[in-house]
This record gives sequence, structure tokens and C-alpha cells, in this order.
Amino acid sequence: MFQTMGGNPRNFNKLDLYSLPSPCFVIDKKALQDNLEILYELKEDTNVKILLALKAFSTFSLAPLISNYLDGCCSSGLYETRLAKKYFKGEISTFSPAYKTDEFNEIAQKSNHIIFNSLNQMNDFYDVAKKFNNEIGIRINPLYSEVVNEKYSAASLNSRLGIHLEDLKNIDYKKLSGIHFHTLCEQNFKPLENTWNHIRKTIIPLSKELKWINLGGGHHITRKDYQINKLKKFLKQISYETSSQIYIEPGEAVVLDAGILVGEIIDYFKPNNKFSSEMAITDISATSHIPDVIEAPYRPALLNEPKTGHRVQLGGPSCLAGDNIGVYNFNLPPKIGQRIALLDQAHYTMVKTNFFNGVRMPSIAIWDSRTNDLNIIKEFSYEDFENKLS
Ligand SMILES: Cc1ncc(COP(=O)(O)O)c(C=O)c1O
Repeated sequence: MFQTMGGNPRNFNKLDLYSLPSPCFVIDKKALQDNLEILYELKEDTNVKILLALKAFSTFSLAPLISNYLDGCCSSGLYETRLAKKYFKGEISTFSPAYKTDEFNEIAQKSNHIIFNSLNQMNDFYDVAKKFNNEIGIRINPLYSEVVNEKYSAASLNSRLGIHLEDLKNIDYKKLSGIHFHTLCEQNFKPLENTWNHIRKTIIPLSKELKWINLGGGHHITRKDYQINKLKKFLKQISYETSSQIYIEPGEAVVLDAGILVGEIIDYFKPNNKFSSEMAITDISATSHIPDVIEAPYRPALLNEPKTGHRVQLGGPSCLAGDNIGVYNFNLPPKIGQRIALLDQAHYTMVKTNFFNGVRMPSIAIWDSRTNDLNIIKEFSYEDFENKLS
């Protein structure tokens, strides 16, 4: 079980959890803005371009704020590209493991960079991408990764993502504007430097032909212990060495610790067996609302959790036996109706929710911890559940 790397409560202990519908995702504008300011300063100091990875966070109501700070979006296919074009300002860089013919025209029309995952796809779609004035990139697999969780390691020998360095020689470099790689997951600076050292001998000679190098996402830049000064030095150095525009496309780092998921205790009981834990059923479902808890798996941090106390297993309202969130300490046995909040729930959550079991989808709220202004920007109904089916 992986521990979450986030979990800084920021100002969320000032929020009245009972003023919200339940369940509800809440984004603190101030926390988001603080993250964006760190990223903006990085841009100013190093000339790096920063794109928001929509796969992590696509809450477009915040697009005007985000677009004030970042250079655009990175998208994974047609729908994210459309969303980026409709709501966000700036550049759109699209990478998909494989493009479909019937979607590619629109993707190419709306994107600025098209990044291919294979030579096949580059050959098939190059002319259309060029027709719409895209700059063409290829994703490489550096075959170097320090990601511990195999599921998130995109640079293993059998990863389907990116061409191997030796295959670069089969490309007509004149067709290429950029190189893309993505090997990090919630990492500090050093693994990025190590990855670069692993590929620099191949990339630097080739970079004379390139306009840009995209270092992907997974940089945990807005985390307190992130070595940002080392990153700044590194970005300046590689942009000098390669004479290329450097891009990064973080998702998590943009909204790290900027959102929570508020829920309610619906039932609490203790089986009559000394080996069983105390249990509470909540209206937060791991499988429907925060599937990474099961998929990663990881244990999200709980707002104001004491160090010791009643050990209570929190679980969701679905029928899945494994719909468990984790075991948490409570000062007192939880009461029915009591509100709880899971921390660091802005990224890879709202983009992944589903209606399994007809479980009610969390509302979405934007809160400003400076003013206590609260806006419920989205509520889901039975009709949303029905409309998804037929
Ligand atoms: C190609 C690519 N870019 C960017 C990201 C964003 O990564 P993160 O949210 O960890 O910063 C991902 C995440 O999987 C990715 O696959």
C-alpha cells in the first residue's frame, strides 16, 4: 500500500464541512493560486513552458485562473483537445498512444503539437498533421525509470509508450520538431536529472534539428520538499545545451493539496468478534469516486486525523466487497451524520468518477479560503445516471 505524497491540509480545517452537500469535491482557489504562482515563477526564471495535463485535472470552471499562469494544456485525445480549445487559452499539445483516423482531423485542427507514439502512426498521420500546421513530435521511451510502482512506470522494457532510442535513427529528422518523454510519477528533481543523463548523449546531437523537448509530467514541483532551485538550474542548462524550448506538462503539481473530498458517515458498527475492526460506511465510494485508492492502491490522508484513537475502517456505499478507503484513527467512535474530508483529492479524481452501482456522484465546489466564498459549481442527479445508460 502506497502512502499519499500529498496530504497537507493547507487551509481546509477552516472550511465548515457541514455547509456543503455530501459527498462533495472542494477546490480551494487560494491553494490552487499558490501552486500556480510557484509554477509561474519557474517559467519566469527558466523560460520553460508549462502545460496543464488535463488527464489529471479538467475542472474547466477554473480555466480562466489557470490560463493566467500557464502556457496551455496537454491533451490525450479528441475530447481533451476539444475541452482545451473551448475553455483554456494557449497552446495545445496532444499525445495519444494511438490516434484513430476518424478523430485525427479535428485533433490536428485544434492542436499545436502532435506527438506520435510510433513510427507507424507518424507515417500514417504526418501529412494531415502538417496540413493543419502542427509541429510534430515523437515520444521516446528512455528505458530509465525510478518509479517504484510498476503500474506507473512508463519507461520499462515492455512499456507500450514511446519508441526506443535506437529506433530514432529510422526517422527523417527534418520531419521532427520535438521529442517527448514521460518517466516520472510524483517525483522530486533527482530522477529527472538521472533520466536526462541516461539519454543526453543521444538527444543532444539530434537537438540541432529540434525546436522543443517536452519532459512530460510527474514533477512534484509544488511539494514543500521539492528541490526547485536544482530544477531551475537544470532547465536553464538543458535549454542552453540543446538550444531548444523546454516544456513540462504537470498535472498533479498544479493542484497538489488544493482539493478535498468531503463525505458523511452513514453507518458505524463493530462486529462481535475481537479480531474485527470498527467499521463505518460513508457516502464516499473508493471504487466510484476515487478509484486510484484501489487501483494504485494508496491510503488517502484524512483531515484532522489524530495519531491514535479508535481504529475505524472506512468504506463506501457500493456492493463491492473491496470498496474500502482505509483504516483511520478517530478520537471518538464516529457518529452517524458526521462529516469527514479526505485530503489531496483534486487530481485524478473528478476525471475518473463513475456511476457504478448508481452511487451518487460527488458535487463539485469552489471555495476561497481567503474570503470563505463558496460556490457549488456542479451537482449530479438521477438523470445523469440514467442518461449514461440506455
Ligand atoms: C504523457 C503524460 N504527461 C503528463 C502527465 C501528468 O503527470 P502528473 O499528473 O503526474 O504530473 C502524464 C500522467 O500520466 C502523462 O502520461
